[in-house]
Amino acid sequence: MPSARLGLSRRQFVLGSVAALGASSWSRVYGANDTLRLASVGVGGKGWDDSNQISASPKVSVVALCDTDESDKFLGRAATKFKAAKTFTDWRKLFEQHKTFDAVSVSTPDHMHAPIALPAMALGKHVFCQKPLTHTVHEARQMKLAAKKYGVVTQMGNQIQSHEAYRTAVKLVRDGTIGKVKEVHSWQSGKLGWILAPDRPKTADPVPEKLHWNDWLGAAPERPYKARLYHDFNWRAWQDFSNGQLGDFGCHILDPVFMALGLTAPTTVRGNRSEMNREVWYTWSVVEYEFPGTDRTADKTVKLTWYDGEGKLPPRDKLGLKADTKLPGSGSLLLGTKGTLLVPHVAMPKLLPEGEFAPIKPEPAVNHYTTWADACRGEGKVTSHFDYAGALTETVLLGTVALRVPGETLKWDSAALTVTNSKEATALLTKPYRKGWEPKWV
Ligand SMILES: NC(=O)c1ccc[n+]([C@@H]2O[C@H](COP(=O)([O-])OP(=O)(O)OC[C@H]3O[C@@H](n4cnc5c(N)ncnc54)[C@H](O)[C@@H]3O)[C@@H](O)[C@H]2O)c1
Repeated sequence: MPSARLGLSRRQFVLGSVAALGASSWSRVYGANDTLRLASVGVGGKGWDDSNQISASPKVSVVALCDTDESDKFLGRAATKFKAAKTFTDWRKLFEQHKTFDAVSVSTPDHMHAPIALPAMALGKHVFCQKPLTHTVHEARQMKLAAKKYGVVTQMGNQIQSHEAYRTAVKLVRDGTIGKVKEVHSWQSGKLGWILAPDRPKTADPVPEKLHWNDWLGAAPERPYKARLYHDFNWRAWQDFSNGQLGDFGCHILDPVFMALGLTAPTTVRGNRSEMNREVWYTWSVVEYEFPGTDRTADKTVKLTWYDGEGKLPPRDKLGLKADTKLPGSGSLLLGTKGTLLVPHVAMPKLLPEGEFAPIKPEPAVNHYTTWADACRGEGKVTSHFDYAGALTETVLLGTVALRVPGETLKWDSAALTVTNSKEATALLTKPYRKGWEPKWV
């Protein structure tokens, strides 16, 4: 719709405003009693939880809600709870009112994280964004650069990082309890939680009256609406919207490994998987990463292998475990020079062999959501800021790139953002965007 004032489309107006204002124009200096004004984008599903968790702080008020589905389960429910909040179905309209809020939570399907969070940061908004941070490796790098450029407080929604279990695991490794780490195995062997159609449906359904399907698609290529297969939750099966099982769980399960070892970027990555077409993701995968060693690894390089799919566990003969040691359905094993750390997803870690270590002292949890809100107000610090979470997400999503060119050992040049030995894989670091929905790159 053209803007009467400027003769520009609404989107051009928003992005033009962003460029003209710069981040610092709207950053506030907070007093002890000032509240953080939160705009929540995507308020069904995890976004409902995120809005509630962040606003559990008495110093946060939810002033705006945005969701592409106005029905009771989505925008309706949130509007009933957060009565004072203004409601929107299009985040671009919300951003036009940028003077009325300070921070944004983004809890939409993955393909819209970067298109929403990047202009938010350019407007000087602090951002809480769900995991995986983005849909492509290139977007993850951009999120990291944007957070730095605009000086905003950011946090990815991998909340288990702040749980007692993962914090204890990280501390045990950092304290040298298992010595130097020789190799790592991480897995998610549970059943796929979403409907995995074999291919794109040949028929369409009428779009529900309260769903704004075109806005839900956003930056993704246009496709007809089909009930149950995409909105809500089942978008996870589709390459246009998600990164499959590794994208869904990698930013949780690999997080304590990444943090404990101080990993940055892999040097090589190689993927293997079940059959997959150009629409939906696979049913199982194995991804082998090699990273430069750190002061917590035994050698100059360290291998991390990821396994996913129902019943897909690391091979026992590689783990040196006693026959009666059971592995949880998902988690990680860090094999060290002085012992092994089992990090279940999500339960307290175990030191192996059992009985050979002093009892574990738990590291207390912190609140992943309100620490972000506090940090936005200038109190304290966050741990899953986009500098960290961008690098973690790049690693996870590089795995999904490797899974699209299975069997090839890809050489990763992180500084140049290039797969040096595969043009095909380099092309998969980004994707085409629907015209008019291109993200605001840094
Ligand atoms: N941290 C965790 O443990 C955790 C758990 C579940 C989901 N997630 C993440 O949360 C995100 C959402 O997942 P979900 O399971 O809640 O999905 P969902 O489909 O159940 O909910 C997404 C919500 O966003 C809305 N939405 C979609 N596009 C939108 C847009 N362009 N603008 C505004 N609203 C929009 C939908 O209507 C819906 O309310 C994903 O990135 C997912 O990976 C994280």
